[in-house]
Amino acid sequence: MRVLVTGGAGYIGSHTLIELMAQGHAVCVLDNYKNATPAVLQRVRALSNGTMTDYAGDVRDGAMLDKVMTTFKPDAVVHFAGLKAVGESAEKPLDYYDVNVGGTLAVLQAMDRAGCRRIIFSSSATVYGEPVYLPYDEDHPTRPTSVYGQTKLAAEHILTGWTKANPDAAAVILRYFNPVGAHHSARIGEDPRDTPNNLMPFIAQVAIGKRDALTIFGDDYDTPDGTGLRDYIHVVDLARAHVAALDYAARTNGAGIFNIGTGQSYSVRDMVSAFSRACGRDIAVKVASRRAGDIAAMQADASRARHAMGWTATHTLEDMTASTWAWQSANPNGYQTETDTSKITP
Ligand SMILES: NC(=O)c1ccc[n+]([C@@H]2O[C@H](COP(=O)([O-])OP(=O)(O)OC[C@H]3O[C@@H](n4cnc5c(N)ncnc54)[C@H](O)[C@@H]3O)[C@@H](O)[C@H]2O)c1
Repeated sequence: MRVLVTGGAGYIGSHTLIELMAQGHAVCVLDNYKNATPAVLQRVRALSNGTMTDYAGDVRDGAMLDKVMTTFKPDAVVHFAGLKAVGESAEKPLDYYDVNVGGTLAVLQAMDRAGCRRIIFSSSATVYGEPVYLPYDEDHPTRPTSVYGQTKLAAEHILTGWTKANPDAAAVILRYFNPVGAHHSARIGEDPRDTPNNLMPFIAQVAIGKRDALTIFGDDYDTPDGTGLRDYIHVVDLARAHVAALDYAARTNGAGIFNIGTGQSYSVRDMVSAFSRACGRDIAVKVASRRAGDIAAMQADASRARHAMGWTATHTLEDMTASTWAWQSANPNGYQTETDTSKITP
């Protein structure tokens, strides 16, 4: 298939490009580099023999989308482009609605103009909100507690409405749990620009000496060790879920919603211990009070994805920590080429 990948230079997008090309798909990236650098695509090209073109542009720019659609003529779109920081979404709600909802609308409108009828969408487990039961299945009530989660849910509704209005269309909505890890080559990985919002890159920066200690927000939750439980999924497993979703979208119509997680959860302290084993260093931690809006535990029931798409996660916790450490230690400054590993002021 010919696949347009919006946000393809980002963390999940870059890993997905490699998996798509490995399966013989031709890919085209549209990214505005708001949270990525073109150097990512150079590394992806070096890791793959596949066909890849790329455009620098914004998904809210209809004329740009039309240009890409008429030139590349995609059979399907994988739509990653978006803003993803839960905390920031409360401070900049209009930006989050503009990019995450407005961007999705613009992509669908351009697909309509071009007659493209298949889309895979990056949603999030944050659409569920406070668990009524665990593991979450896809029928769990959706009551997101953040603006970010609300924008993802709004985009899901738009996609569902689009498939109802277009019986020949397919939208596969993937609700990701907690993506971690890096490509086994250690050439691509997660490269947060500011203070990492996610646990694993933060731990990795403590391990490499860029930060003094990991702050654990709350160790008094009703969990076995008091710290929050999350369902971590290796980014390569997540990337492969998109390949499976494209195959599924090619043989179905309508909207399908799938949890993409492992079905297993680990605590913050579990992750710190596992990372410490992977890097052979102690990880300093300090404990602070809970953060507003944080949930004690999250875990996916990923059986629908297994049954319908034949996808299942295969990477272990050790794969997640070892690959993160390999990426971090080989690229102390991420995609920047300088070798300055001096401490960052928190
Ligand atoms: N990483 C996670 O924990 C997680 C969890 C659930 C869902 N998601 C979703 O998955 C998608 C990809 O996440 P990621 O972790 O790879 O994030 P990322 O920030 O690394 O990638 C997003 C990419 O989109 C690009 N982009 C942003 N706004 C754009 C715009 N207006 N036009 C064109 N490109 C734009 C960025 O430059 C970046 O390359 C996002 O939609 C995110 O909300 C991520």
